[in-house]
Amino acid sequence: MCGIVGYTGYKDATPILIDGLETLAYRGYDSAGVAVWNGSGIVMRKEKGQLKNLEEILRKEPIFGNSGIGHTRWATHGEPSYINSHPHADVQQKLVLVHNGIIENYLSLKTMLVNNGCRFVSDTDTEVVAQLLGYVYKGDPLSAILTVMRMIEGSFALAILFMDDPHSIYCACKDSPMVVGIGEDGAHVASDIPAMLAYTRDVTFMSDMQVAVLRPNGISFYNEFGQSINKAVIHIDWDIDAAKKGTYEHYMMKEICEEPVAFRKTLEQYVSVKDMRLKSDCFPWNADDVDKLKRIRIIGCGTAYHAGVMGKKYFSELAKLPVEIEIASEFRYSGHCFEEGEQLIVISQSGETADTIAAMRMAKQRGINVTAICNVIGSTIAREADSVLFTYAGPEIAVAATKSYLAQITVLFLTALYLGKLRGALDAKKVSSLLEELSKVPTHIQNLINERERIQFFASKSFASKHVFFIGRGLDYGLAMEAALKLKEISYIHSEAYAAGELKHGTIALIEDGSLVVALVTQRHLSAKIASNIEEVRVRGANVLCITNGYLPDIEGHCNEVWQLESLSEILSPFCAIVPMQLLAYYMAVQRGCSVDKPRNLAKSVTVE
Ligand code: AGP
Repeated sequence: MCGIVGYTGYKDATPILIDGLETLAYRGYDSAGVAVWNGSGIVMRKEKGQLKNLEEILRKEPIFGNSGIGHTRWATHGEPSYINSHPHADVQQKLVLVHNGIIENYLSLKTMLVNNGCRFVSDTDTEVVAQLLGYVYKGDPLSAILTVMRMIEGSFALAILFMDDPHSIYCACKDSPMVVGIGEDGAHVASDIPAMLAYTRDVTFMSDMQVAVLRPNGISFYNEFGQSINKAVIHIDWDIDAAKKGTYEHYMMKEICEEPVAFRKTLEQYVSVKDMRLKSDCFPWNADDVDKLKRIRIIGCGTAYHAGVMGKKYFSELAKLPVEIEIASEFRYSGHCFEEGEQLIVISQSGETADTIAAMRMAKQRGINVTAICNVIGSTIAREADSVLFTYAGPEIAVAATKSYLAQITVLFLTALYLGKLRGALDAKKVSSLLEELSKVPTHIQNLINERERIQFFASKSFASKHVFFIGRGLDYGLAMEAALKLKEISYIHSEAYAAGELKHGTIALIEDGSLVVALVTQRHLSAKIASNIEEVRVRGANVLCITNGYLPDIEGHCNEVWQLESLSEILSPFCAIVPMQLLAYYMAVQRGCSVDKPRNLAKSVTVE
């Protein structure tokens, strides 16, 4: 989705804006632009395509100045083009602005403005905001912004530069993330924390219908009535390198290699490793709350939803709790009858996914208690949930979620252990033996990563596959869903996940000579059953790769290749088994020459519904 940056201070603004836009590029974009106050006017440069196109223009025609705004656009209204790129100005050139989000009533506002003499140059909803702001502006930027915020419907994050007050950057938002911070050399605004980490780690998250005014030496905040307010400053301890690619060719590979650390950090937040004990004060429920707990509902999108699928199995098996899981974008239309004693768990890496936020708000309105599992402190979901179980994966830049998934299933598993213990479904001995085994997972993952050449070799033989089927039973079916999503989103190979027993009810018709089937067999007690399913596809010509939890004699003779993982308790084996699946997707995509970190049509943070 689009990315916003802004800076006002004592340094040259353009390099700071470009640096910020480069950091936000992971969100996905198709054009970029900047506007800088050069001492006598606001000068814009913008261009379609990659940021390097804009940088090339700036090399030929540089702009110097100490305040400016920048934007990477992911087209919604109007094709990707120079004209539609941000920043946009009003007809009288009193201001320029950049915008994230969607203005839902832009057509009626546009009609009103055209009838009042405004001439539009672009097809965007954003230009409507610029023109409307210019139309209502009578010399007081704050009051004009408050008026416009009341008139526009939809979602927005706006950074605005006024000709009359060019050393200030005015920011406002609703349902679209925005973070501001003050560093040694000036004030910054961005859509996401990594874009300002090089300048400050002390940041403030904007809330809906608030305005921030950035000046070189400070930031003022106002509520929707224009009253001055104080806002909390949050210290972010991610370091700058965590959000940089370093020596890795792709962020995705870097982030897979960070999985042992992400896992360990997350585990150590919730578990006292010296005595293998869950830290009860880290979970938002006491024994009384747990007594009243009747059902858990889980929602999320994409990979976060798939983590929820694993969570459902953990809660059912370890805590003996009924669990419902739903895709966040469907949750609102399901006509749920909520009952007393229900707990909603919302899963989101970014904490900014529009569908998940909308579902969470709906549940909150109905009085349901919401716990978020989230990776970003200060994000909308983290702020609005009743409680948060943070994942400690660190910044995730590649569009394909990898280490955040591992951290999410870790938190879900630990939460299930905690609830299972309080509900009397698990005894202390069982909990500590599972925790003991869990603490060895980072070493197993590291070993898998160290031996990744084997996966690379397999990918070099299989990357031309047209269809890949991931099959599994029980927890492995949940794992298969995530493996299939990973492969399709970055390699563009059609891939699907099936419950292995379901194949013969239709899908097996698709199996033909040379079809690639990946069978996940971490659940040993189901290995004989899945061996039969593997046979069913093998006799129809499929090549079968099997991922097993230790040595499984049932499986050996039935497939073309076996990747045998370290033998673990069945419930823990998926923590390791997901890693070769992520690596397989990565190497297949690299072999096919795909844009691994920024796959076509996708954005890291999906901030529109
Ligand atoms: C997964 O690789 C995708 N990037 C996508 O499915 C993602 O998990 C989904 O959009 C949800 O994002 P969130 O966790 O930030 O809410």
